[in-house]
Parts: sequence; structure tokens; C-alpha cells
Amino acid sequence: MKQAVQAVLNQMTLQEKAALCSGRDFWHIAGVPRLGIAPAMVSDGPHGLRKQNDQADHLGVNESIQAVCFPAGCATACSFDRALLENMGRALGAECRAEQVDILLGPAVNIKRSPLCGRNFEYYSEDPYLAGQAAATFIRGVQSRQVGTSVKHFAANNQEFRRLTRSSNMSERTLREIYLPAFEAAVREAGAWTVMCAYNRINGVFASENPTLLTDILRREWGFDGFVMSDWGAVNEKLRAVEAGLELEMPGPCDASVQKVVQAVESGELPQEVLDQAAGRILEILLRRPEPQSGESFNRQRDHDLAARVETECAVLLKNNGLLPLSRSNDLAYIGAFAQKPRYQGGGSSHINAFRVEGALEFAPEGTVYLPGFSTRQDSPDPQALAAAMEAAGRARAAVIFAGLPDDFECEGYDRTHMRLPECQNQLIHAVAQVQPNTVVVLHLGSPVETPWADEVAAVLCVYLGGEAVGRATDALLYGDVCPSGRLAESWPLKLEDNPSFLNFPGDEEGVEYAEGVFVGYRYYDKKEMAVRWPFGHGESYTTFAYSDARVQVEDGKILAQVRVTNTGSCFGKEVVQLYVQDRTGTANRPPKELKGFEKVALEPGQSRIVCFILDERALSWYSPSGWYAASGCYRLLFAHSSRDVRAGADLEWVSSRRLPMRVHRNTTVGALLANPRTAAVLEPLLRQQHTQEESEVSREAITEEMLRQMLVNSPLRSVQNYQGYTDAQLQQLIDRLQQAADGACE
Ligand code: BGC
Repeated sequence: MKQAVQAVLNQMTLQEKAALCSGRDFWHIAGVPRLGIAPAMVSDGPHGLRKQNDQADHLGVNESIQAVCFPAGCATACSFDRALLENMGRALGAECRAEQVDILLGPAVNIKRSPLCGRNFEYYSEDPYLAGQAAATFIRGVQSRQVGTSVKHFAANNQEFRRLTRSSNMSERTLREIYLPAFEAAVREAGAWTVMCAYNRINGVFASENPTLLTDILRREWGFDGFVMSDWGAVNEKLRAVEAGLELEMPGPCDASVQKVVQAVESGELPQEVLDQAAGRILEILLRRPEPQSGESFNRQRDHDLAARVETECAVLLKNNGLLPLSRSNDLAYIGAFAQKPRYQGGGSSHINAFRVEGALEFAPEGTVYLPGFSTRQDSPDPQALAAAMEAAGRARAAVIFAGLPDDFECEGYDRTHMRLPECQNQLIHAVAQVQPNTVVVLHLGSPVETPWADEVAAVLCVYLGGEAVGRATDALLYGDVCPSGRLAESWPLKLEDNPSFLNFPGDEEGVEYAEGVFVGYRYYDKKEMAVRWPFGHGESYTTFAYSDARVQVEDGKILAQVRVTNTGSCFGKEVVQLYVQDRTGTANRPPKELKGFEKVALEPGQSRIVCFILDERALSWYSPSGWYAASGCYRLLFAHSSRDVRAGADLEWVSSRRLPMRVHRNTTVGALLANPRTAAVLEPLLRQQHTQEESEVSREAITEEMLRQMLVNSPLRSVQNYQGYTDAQLQQLIDRLQQAADGACE
């Protein structure tokens, strides 16, 4: 512990230490005013500042200060642009400084396991690497202003159903490979000041009182040096939480739990050192805060402009038959309520009191006809609105439909029950597409929907929940002022039933089984070779890109990979070069490819650039029972435009000095022993000998050596005892020989 922290601790009373570990009020950490340490203010949230001055709540009910609503996580991850996210983080950090907010409660990095999760709009991706990179860069941006972040919700908070009590049940491998890496990147790569624990349980243990997560993994493995706060109301049992490694209970005031801690220390139930450690960790962060400076203010208009620029980099052009970009003319029809009043953010604790909202209609070319087409408050179509929309669309040169999910479809606190757009919107799109071949659909939503009309329309632009300047950004993309460069951060399945979590979502009162394991999103669709509507990483552009000269080499344990990318089209554009790793060693049941790198490159027509990546062993690894492990053998590096559009590849021969340890016992299968070259060398001769002994005219016809081998593969070693007529002592001797051979193969 730092000296300064220790010095403060030495002067604090037991009561003050306990009080520091519980919120002072809804949005403040107590501080130690007697010793000159001011309370700290925390505020939501990931895509804008939700600072509440008066009536506090965490569900987005009461007003907060007017601030700029940036695109939500569902959109920003699609930028695949680290610099952009860092920039947005910097702007938010500056807003916090101006408003005397010490810690911003974000980013939210939970994995999108099911498209139905009510908070998917806040989360980044179905892919842990992308979520981790987005989080780390955003955090770096905010914290560069000496404002803290709180990466949330640690961990496995992937649905809203029974979010305060449910257990997310999964294997250690699944937790490590899918649900933890984004937090790990936030801590290791960006040094997040704080972590917010989730409401839910993980394999039966509340996240708020989970020593494996809060202490073993977060602190010991990842070296986290900040403090953990609870989500609002996530503490189940205060003493267990403090012991497990939770420093701060939020929100306050929590007089009862402060007294509980005081009494527990006095009675010896809670060791004094545990409380000192928790208080010390909070102090450490409080002392990191800069001196408040008067006169800092944030320029809402400037940040609004930034929000527009960010969104232009995020929106994903899902389909384009060549109609886009449109030319500005006076014979267009804009249809759909979201043209005028766009849906640009989700509901709940991240809800921003937006400074200024721009709909695309504000920017539409003069003479554009506008019709609402549907009501966001009803599901069934209004025949009159439909007829009017068809008529206007039929007369226009092109129709742009501004569709999407209404507010109450996506909100913190509950999940969606289906993946459809309201029926009135689906029917509107079908109907307009019938009379107007040049129909563009612009989608405003926080999560994928089924798009039964996808083949009927000319173009689909997904702007996600694009923040308050979404209309301006949409306009720039529709008319080609900016070339679209967003790529999907999640797969869009054809229908909900295709999603790997479908049979196990949302689970029951008690828990939910993550039975699909590591096969989340594209990891599953690829393994099953299933058709999807739009794959992970997908996004069209107004230009084209060619990949060539893929290379890979290993130097000092690092993997250096590179590929040349050329803009082969006729306009300036940005390509997201995606690097996937494919394990060809056959050591474990792995997804066919996993994202391990990406770079966004800007290219003029005809220009080309070599894009380089440096990977480490972890990028090849899976989480085995003995930890992260990359077997020796072949890995293919895939350079891709999307997860389903691999444009170049190169093989890598990895040599590892490590081998997975093997314990040989009576029930180790023959198959496992034959798969290991060292134990196979001992066993093979025995098996051959047995076959030769049994070889008679009749047996040769009845069973070949190969058939025998196949049958034996699933048999335990003890069955060899029967065939060979071994005594128990002889079997034990064989086990010992095999174990020796296996150990020779391990480090
Ligand atoms: C949410 C958190 C949020 C907190 C404070 C909780 O309900 O889960 O994400 O930061 O409220 O508003």
C-alpha cells in the first residue's frame, strides 16, 4: 500500500473506514472529509454523461443534466476503430471534468450471448476480443482526463431476466474464453480504475461475493489495482462480499451495513486487515483524482459534432445492390416515424438527457416527401398509412424507410421475447418494396431483428442506436459524403431459433445453462456451417478492397503477420482488415476461427498498404484444464473482410515446449493413449500383438486390425487387462510405464 494511503488509514476511525466502503448517497462515495478527502461523484454511463443533481435513480426515470448522447456500445463497436473510441472517451472524460464527476460508470462489456438481452444496446459484441479492444481504448480515452471508469458488469451478466438473483452456469473454459477476456483487456491493457460487479451469480456464487472472480482472477492474475464497486443493489450479504474482495457497496446510504461491518470488526468476525485493505484500495483511487479546477466547461455543440462523426464510422451498410449512394434530388420519399424523431438510445440507467436530437429528415433534399408510415406505439399496421406510403413511394425515384425497434422493445431491466420488428413495420417494408424497387431501409435498433424483406429491398443501412446526431450521420452516408465503414460486431441470424443460446435462454428462476459453451455467435454459426442473414464482421462499402501477399513468421515467440490491402474501387474508403486464427492442430474442440486482430485502414482509390499484426501465444490458445494452452502444430491465419469472407491466409507452424499433463489410470481410454505419441509408442506394440494372437482364418474375416482399433479407441485401459489376461499387478505395471512415457512428454 502506498505511504500516502497508509498515512490516511492510520488516522481513520473504524466507523470512517466502514463508511468509506459504502456509498454516501446514490451517486457519491463518502471520502473522508475530516481528513480533507472529498466525496467522489460517480455517474452513468457508457455513451453519455447522466449526471443527476436532484432526484436520483438508476432506471432512467428522473431527469439528469443536459448532455451529449453519443452512439451506444452496439454502434461504437461496429467502428472497429480504436482511435475513434479513444477520442470519444476523451470527450466524455472532459465532460466529466467539467461537471465534477470523478468516475464514469462504463464501459459495459458483457458479451451478447442472445440477441434478446434487453441491454445488448449498451454492450459491444458477441466477440470477446472486439469487446475488449473497444473497452480498453474507451477507458484509455476517459482516464487520460484523470477521470476514472468502471468496467461493468463483472461478470456473465448476459440477460436481464432475473438479473439480480439468477446464476449463469458455465464451464471454466467458457468463462475464460468468452465471458472474461473483455474485462481482462480493460484491466490489463487500460488499467481501469474501478470494476463494477454484476448482479447475478456465476455457477451459484453471487458476483458480489465471488472470491475466485474478485480476488484470484481480477487481482492475483490480472494485477488489478483499483477497487470493485457493486452494481446498484448487487450486494447480497455485506460481510461475505467484503471478504471476497468487494470494496464498495453502492448505492448509499447504507447505515445498516456500515454498522454491521463495524460490529463484525469489533467482534473479530471480520479481520481488521480485510477492512483496512478495502478502505485502502478506495483511498488509493480517491487520491488519484486531480485537484478540481474551476472554469472547465464542455462545449455541447462540439461534442455533438463529434457524436455525428463517430456515428458515420459506426453505421453498417448491410446490403447495397448499387442504389446507394443516392444523389440529392427532389423526388425522394422518406417514410417512417424515425426519419423525424429517430430512435437513438436505449432505456434505463444509460439514458441521456440529450442536448439536441437530429433526425435525417432535417437534412433531406428539398422536395422530399415525408410520411410517418407507422406508429411506434402499435404493432398492427394502419391500412390508411400503408396505402399513403405506397402511393408516395410509387411516385418517387427512391424510397427510404426509417424503421427500427420502438423504445419499449429494448430497455434495461427486461429482455425481448422475440426478434421481430413490429408487424406494422414489416408490412410497410414489404408493401413499399412491391411498388418501389429503389427502396432503402434504415434500421434504428440496439440488437439484430429478423428481416423477412431483406431480399425485396435494394439497400439496408443499420445505424443501430446512433446517438443524438444519428440523422446527420445517416444523411452523410446515404448520399455518399462519407463512405460506410462500419462492420457488424455481432452476427445477424436468419431467425431467433438459429441462435446458439435459443434452447437455454433465459433459463428459469434459479439459473441459466450456457450449454453452447464457447460456441457463441459466429463461433457457432461457422462450426455448424449455417446460413446467417449477415455475418459477424460484415459491412458493405462504396468502394472495393483486394487482399494479397499474406505472410506470417515467428520471431522471439511473437507472431508477425501481414497482408497487403488495396482500394480497387473508385472512391476513398476505409477497410477493416480482420485477422482470425484457425487452430488446425486438432487438440481441442474449437471454433473454426476466432478474431484475434483488426485494423481499420483508410485508402484512396488505387492506394495500397501493408497491414501488420503482432500476436502472442495467447492468441493461439484455448483454456485447457491446465490453463491457456497452444499445442504445437499448424495454425492458419485468415485475413478477412468479414467472418464469412476470408480474402487471404497463411500457415504458421507453432512449436511449444509445453504439453498438457496426462494422468494415466485404469479408465484412461485407449483412444487418449493412442493420441499421445509417447504413450502410443508403449501401447501400439501390445495391441498389434493381441491382434496377431487372435488372427485365425475366421477372425481375420470377422474383424480387421482397423476395426479392432476403432472398437478399442473408446475402451478403458482396464479392458486391455481382459484381452491380455493381465493380473492386477501387470496392469499396474503397464499403467506405470504409460505414466512415465506421458510424463516424458510434459514439462
Ligand atoms: C445498472 C448499472 C448502472 C447503475 C447505476 C444499475 O441498475 O445495472 O449499469 O451503472 O444502475 O445507474
